[in-house]
Amino acid sequence: MGTKETIVELNAEFGIASVARVVEGKGGLPKVEVTCTAATGEMYLLGGEVTSWKPRGREETLFVSAASKWEGGKAIRGGVPVCFPWFGNKADDPKAPAHGFVRAKAWRLDSIERKGDAVTVSMSITSDEGTKKWWPAEFRLVQRTTFGAELVMELEMTNSGSAPQRFEEALHTYFRVGDITKARVRGLDGIRYIDKTDGFREKRQQGDVVIGKETDNVYLDTAHAVEIEDPAMGRRIRVSKENSLATVVWNPWIEKAKAMSDMGDEEWRQFVCVETCNVAKHAVGLEAGAQHRMRAAITISKF
Ligand code: BG6
Repeated sequence: MGTKETIVELNAEFGIASVARVVEGKGGLPKVEVTCTAATGEMYLLGGEVTSWKPRGREETLFVSAASKWEGGKAIRGGVPVCFPWFGNKADDPKAPAHGFVRAKAWRLDSIERKGDAVTVSMSITSDEGTKKWWPAEFRLVQRTTFGAELVMELEMTNSGSAPQRFEEALHTYFRVGDITKARVRGLDGIRYIDKTDGFREKRQQGDVVIGKETDNVYLDTAHAVEIEDPAMGRRIRVSKENSLATVVWNPWIEKAKAMSDMGDEEWRQFVCVETCNVAKHAVGLEAGAQHRMRAAITISKF
């Protein structure tokens, strides 16, 4: 069955008239398009990835690169890639894909539900022979996203095998900003972080995070919310979370952006990644049969 037929069938099974449809997205890839009273949004089956969320009356919240590749086997550049079961490079295998393997694979659409004036889309990925090549575990990972006045993303991991598992996870959210040099991330003052641009040295944040160079910081012991202030777009983005103990702040800045084949040379100005995650010493241990759910909730207000 071709992708076009699959899209038609998925839409017939899951579409909700004038609220949610499964359509051909960029690169002919299947995506769910949501239009409800509170917001519009979209989510691709590739990577189970949210690529758009626009609360009613406001501008787009997420950044997606104009140079993104939009093909199976490659991660979308922007939106909210799901990193799992490791973050960054795999410690014991330099050949393994960065940020794990689920962001470049096709997920399954499980359900679309209307909930009041919001819509929840659930997608999942289950271990198979392909995933076991990289990671021997049996698992089911669900990305459940509610598009409404808030954007709520729940990443739910079930250890369906018979042995304990240990994994890292991230909702690698690319937030669109009007001008990165004027934006700041608040709520991390005094927090210890790993500076990946400086040999993974541990440091302590002083004041707000202001991006004036390549920034790749893993903030530890951060269960609390943070805010992005974006005066150029006149808005404040609040990221609250549950069951997440780390927060990554990333921007590639000039040289790294230029070196990336799926990012425009000037696009580093237009986003900051603030990632809800469990990485490094906060990797999650899960007994056989157990479940872990990490949640991020995003709201927008006037600056
Ligand atoms: C960040 C990492 O989360 O993602 C960075 O901390 C990395 O080290 C960045 O460069 C982008 O990764 P990728 O694999 O999508 O290019």
